[in-house]
Parts: sequence; C-alpha cells; structure tokens
Amino acid sequence: AELLANAQLWKQRRLLITAGPTYEDIDPVRFIGNRSSGKMGYAIAEAAACAGAEVTLISGPVSLPTPFGVERIDVRSAEQMFAEVQKYYAAADCFISAAAVADFRVEQMAEQKLKKQNDVDSMSLNLVKNPDIVAWVTAQQDKPFVVGFAAETENVESYARDKLSRKKLDMICANQVGQGLGFERDDNRLTVISASETLALPQSSKSELSSKLLKIIGKALS
Ligand code: CTP
Ligand code: CA
Repeated sequence: AELLANAQLWKQRRLLITAGPTYEDIDPVRFIGNRSSGKMGYAIAEAAACAGAEVTLISGPVSLPTPFGVERIDVRSAEQMFAEVQKYYAAADCFISAAAVADFRVEQMAEQKLKKQNDVDSMSLNLVKNPDIVAWVTAQQDKPFVVGFAAETENVESYARDKLSRKKLDMICANQVGQGLGFERDDNRLTVISASETLALPQSSKSELSSKLLKIIGKALS
C-alpha cells in the first residue's frame, strides 16, 4: 500500500537527506565519532528514490553501498556536512536530517600524531560546539519541509518534542537507543511527532519503516 501511495506522493519531489555519523579529527590517526551506522538514513534515501523522488544523500563515514538512483555526497566532519547542506537545501522540497552530527569538534586538530608521554597520566581535549545544521535550515526564509531525528536513551518523547519546538522542525522521528536498541541494527521503532499528530510506528525493518515514514511526510508535503 505504501509503495503505490509513495510513488504518487514523491514522484519528482526533491529530497535532501543527511545520514551517518560525523568524525571530528583529533590528529591524523584519531577522531571523535558516534555510534551511527547510517542504515536508517540510507533506507529512507533508497525508498524515496524508489518512489521516484530526486534524492541527494549527504553522508558521513559509513560502510554502506549507495542506494540505486541516489546522488551521494561523502563528507567526514560536521563542518563539511554543513557546507554541503548549505549548497543543496534551497533546491529541496524536503530535508530529512537523519545524521548523527557530532555536537563538538576538537578546537585545533594536531598536524602530527599526538605522542603519549610516559610521565603524564591524563590529557584533555579542548572542544568547541559544531553548528546545528538542521536548526540553521529551519531559520532560512526559503526552507523546505524539515524532518529531524532524535535518538534518546531516556525520556524519548519529551526530549523529542522539545527538539521539535526548539529547532522549529515540521516533524521529528524519535527512537530509543541503547540496551541493544537502535544502533547498527536492521530494524527500529519510531514515534513520529508533528504539531498536529503523534504516530507510533511499531518495530519493523528499516526499509519498511522508511516506506511508512515517507507516506506520512509525503502527505504533509502535499
Ligand atoms: N543536528 C544537526 N546538527 C547538529 C546536531 C544535531 O543538524 N550539530 C540534528 C540531527 O541530525 C537531528 C536533530 O538535530 O535531526 C536532533 O539531534 P540531537 O543530537 O538529538 O539533538 P541535539 O540538539 O544535539 O541534542 P542532544 O543534547 O540530545 O545531543
Ligand atoms: Ca547531539
């Protein structure tokens, strides 16, 4: 049922989507990252392309093949992802921010590999905040329909609602992570929240969830 509906809702629509983690380099051999496989974002990109949408996928470092028919742009850091989103958002009908963007980056990346000094037992890194990419998009005049994600370990719905309003999103998809849920898995469970509705999408494959999600977003778009 979703397949047919999505083909009507998404044909020739332009979708911009970010997926995967970002890596923030400490030195040439080390980085700060987060646990995101990119599977959810890639599944959405694939389902949208399948429905006839023109999909641009801005991807952090993941080990996934490019979905058929999707234009993929690879980035590493949050700042690189931000630069690409700034290039593409205005042409999009919808922006889905599925990436797990690192909140902080190392203030100054070391040019050479940091050496462990034998007489020193601790070290600290100076971190600075990364730009909030999705919040930047919703602050633009010519913004598309914007969907965020919230992966939470506790208070899932209330934290997600808070992000929906704070970041001025049109919709947010919340999910519980940790304790074997969410990460590096082929299935998931989502709560889709907008100003007008809250929908629970029960545990299923990320590809099935993507179809359901695209139907909800597609309806809100048209
Ligand atoms: N996001 C973003 N840019 C950032 C951080 C987050 O675009 N620098 C987006 C994510 O892609 C996601 C949404 O914002 O769609 C929520 O991300 P999340 O990390 O849950 O939100 P934060 O505001 O960073 O809150 P938290 O303290 O829970 O990490
Ligand atoms: Ca965050």
